Amino acid sequence: MKDQINITYGLSAIKDLKAVLDSKQYSSVFILVDNNTKKHCLKGFLEYSSIIPTAVLTMPAGEENKNLTSCQSLWEELSAEGADRNSVLINLGGGVVTDLGGFVACTFKRGIDFYNIPTSLLAMVDASVGGKTGIDLGALKNQIGIIQEPQGVIIAAEWLKTLVHEELRSGFAEMLKHGLIANPDYWNTLKTISDLSAHNLEGFIKPSVAEKTKVVLEDPYEKGLRKILNFGHTLGHAIESYYLTSPDKARLLHGEAVAIGMVLEAYLATKCSGLRAATANEIKHTFKSFYPIITISSEDQKAIIDLLRHDKKNKAGRINFVLLKAIGKPDIDVEVPQELFAEAFAFYQSA
Ligand code: GLY
Repeated sequence: MKDQINITYGLSAIKDLKAVLDSKQYSSVFILVDNNTKKHCLKGFLEYSSIIPTAVLTMPAGEENKNLTSCQSLWEELSAEGADRNSVLINLGGGVVTDLGGFVACTFKRGIDFYNIPTSLLAMVDASVGGKTGIDLGALKNQIGIIQEPQGVIIAAEWLKTLVHEELRSGFAEMLKHGLIANPDYWNTLKTISDLSAHNLEGFIKPSVAEKTKVVLEDPYEKGLRKILNFGHTLGHAIESYYLTSPDKARLLHGEAVAIGMVLEAYLATKCSGLRAATANEIKHTFKSFYPIITISSEDQKAIIDLLRHDKKNKAGRINFVLLKAIGKPDIDVEVPQELFAEAFAFYQSA
């Protein structure tokens, strides 16, 4: 078991990165951005860090591009630019860039070093920390990937200024999750935030990263404890996948789908893990105060439930949920009777 993950904070850490790279004598330095971080973050990153990259690689933004086609273009570009096993890739972006860039780095010539510079709240508190790299398979989330820690993660709250409200709210869902699975006091504090602004949220990045890091250090390869980080994600991922492939539906960001998943799974927890009904109601009302409620028809529910077959926690055809016995007391590997799903959706949609 490792006893630490290399995470540093602030613009000063970005300034220090060049010296770190120089000390490692990389043969070439590549930066991966998407169209958004190319526009909003690249110039600042180059100025703060004084790094002169061999090339900047760009991928199209959005979860729909977290796929093999994007990887193939990037592997080809790295190859054409003469990258070798001693090259390094810096992923400057949100969760799609850090997940996919990490995967591209881990697989190019059987693995080159990479650094994550998360620019979205979600990537800061979740995606860039813990070494999960990967891509989607069609609409199915994160089906292909490798667990491999980056050489370093640098979290600078500065980038939060580049985000729209929906992006902040998406990352905030993972922070609320950290409270629900591990720390009731943290949950109670986050619940009282009145406005999800970059200013109000930045002070909570470190506590959230600390909660996640504790879990990842204990169980980096998700054999047991790390499963708790998937609370809300079994149904959340299915909802995200479904909305991603339904052009007539509103677009849901990862955290927005997971927020719905947490309310649904709080209901399931009252039936399967002994969570008090009053606590499930508290969870529902808290999420309702931050996230709009969407209407999920019975046809949508059927399609979402069908997608659960692909969840990575499934074992021998069993769909395994992470539920809660109480706030801060997760319950892993819970099998849920299918007939409860409709009740959970009704609970989510009720006042
Ligand atoms: N996002 C869940 C994990 O890193 O395990």
